[in-house]
Amino acid sequence: MASNKKVKKSIITVPKGMHDILPDGQPLWEKIRKIAKETADFYNFSRIDTPILERAELFERSLGETSDVIEKQMLVIRGKGRDSLALRPEGTAPIARAYIENGLSRLGQPLKLYYEGPMFRHEQPQAGRFRQFHQVGFEIISNDSDPIYDAQVIIASYRFLQDLKIKDLNLQLNSIGCAKCRPVFRKKLIDYYSSKEKSLCGDCRRRLRLNPLRLLDCKNGGCVALKKESPSILDTLCYDCKRHFKKVLEFLEEVKLPYTLNQFLVRGLDYYSKTVFEIFTEGSGLALAAGGRYDYLLEMLGKYAPGVGGAAGLERLVEVIKSKGVNLLGRPKPKVFLIHIGDLAKVKALSLIETLRESGLDILESLGKESLRAQLKAADKASSTLSLIFGQQEAFEQSIIIRDMKSGAQETVPLKKVVDVLKRRLR
Ligand code: HAM
Repeated sequence: MASNKKVKKSIITVPKGMHDILPDGQPLWEKIRKIAKETADFYNFSRIDTPILERAELFERSLGETSDVIEKQMLVIRGKGRDSLALRPEGTAPIARAYIENGLSRLGQPLKLYYEGPMFRHEQPQAGRFRQFHQVGFEIISNDSDPIYDAQVIIASYRFLQDLKIKDLNLQLNSIGCAKCRPVFRKKLIDYYSSKEKSLCGDCRRRLRLNPLRLLDCKNGGCVALKKESPSILDTLCYDCKRHFKKVLEFLEEVKLPYTLNQFLVRGLDYYSKTVFEIFTEGSGLALAAGGRYDYLLEMLGKYAPGVGGAAGLERLVEVIKSKGVNLLGRPKPKVFLIHIGDLAKVKALSLIETLRESGLDILESLGKESLRAQLKAADKASSTLSLIFGQQEAFEQSIIIRDMKSGAQETVPLKKVVDVLKRRLR
C-alpha cells in the first residue's frame, strides 16, 4: 500500500563499498566479460561456477589465519545450524574444494578452469577497493607442478588485459619458495627484523611473530624503509624452486612477455608457494590482476594436486579503461526505431519485430507510447539512425515508411521488402 511516510535516506543508499552497475554501464561490463570468455576459450580454460557462499572454515584453513582477509575482511553469516557460512572473498579456495568434492581430476590433466563473479571483502572502501567486487580468474590444477602452467596462467592473464586495450602493463614476478626453503628465509627475516622491532608499525610487530613474510608487503613508511635492506628470498631458494622459477622466466621470455623481478612481492594470501605475480598498468598503484602457484592448497584440503592461477578485478579494469579513455566498445551498431500509430499498427508491430529478429536486425521501440511526437523523441534519444513509421494506412496497405533520422527524408516500402531495404541502408 502506498504510504506518505518519509523513507530513511539510509534505506535507499547502497551499502558501503558496494555499487550498482546501471544499464548505461552494462555494455562495457559485457564487453569485458566477453573478452574474458574469449581468452579462456582460446587457452582452453573451461568455465566453472561455485556458490557465492561457502563454509567459512574453507577459507580459514586455506587463506591463512593471519592473512588480512581472514583476520579482518571475511563477511561471515552465522546460520541456525553449526556451520558458519562466508561470502566468498576469493575464488581459488572454492575451486580447490569443488575439484576435490567432484573428483575433477577425472576430467584430465591438467584441468584448466576459469570463473567470473562477485567476491566480498570487508575492506575500508577507497579507490579500487570495494566490499563487493568482481573477479575473472584462471586456474590450472594438475598432478605435477610443471612451470609451463605458471607461464600459461601469466600469459592468459596478461593477454586478457592486453585484449582490453590496456597499455603500459607492468608484470611483476617473484618466487616465495616451498616448504623446504621458505622456513630458511623466514628465519633470515626474523633475524634481520628482530633488532629493528621498535621501528616497525604495530601490525608488523605482530606479523614478525605470526607471519614474517607479510612484513615485506607493508605500505607503512618506516617499514618500507627497513624493507630495502632486508634479505632477498631469491638468494634463499632451494635448488628445485630456483630451477622452477628459472623455467617460468624462460617461458615468458620465449613469448616476449616483459617482466620485472620484485623480491618484495609476497602476496596477501597464505596458500602461495613458488611463483607469485601481479600486473599493474602505469599510474595504477593497485594490481589489476594477481596470482601465483599454490602447491599445498589442495593437499591442505585432502588431496595432493598442485595448482597455479590468477585473477583480475573487474572494477579496477573498468576504472582504468574509463580513465585512460580506452575505446573498447567501438562504434555503436546503427539502431532502427519502430514507431507505430494506431491500434492496428500496434498489433501488427509485434509480428514485424519478430520478423526483424529472425533476420538478425536489432530494433528499438516504445510500444507503450501512443503519440507520434513522443515516439520520435524516444527515437532521437536512442540515437537511432533510421526509424520505421508504421501507421494505420501502412498497416492496411502492408507497407511501412523508413525515415532517415538525420535528414528527415522518408521512403515508403512494401512490408515484405523492409528487411532487404534495411539491410542495404544499414550496410
Ligand atoms: P587477490 O590479489 O586478492 O588474489 O585479488 C586478485 C585481484 O582482484 C586483485 O589484483 C584486484 O584486481 C582484485 N581485487 C582484490 N580485492 C579487491 C577489492 N577489495 N576491490 C576491488 N578489486 C579487488 C586473489 O583473490 C587470488 N584468488 C587470485 C588467484 C587465483 N591466485 C591464484 N589463483
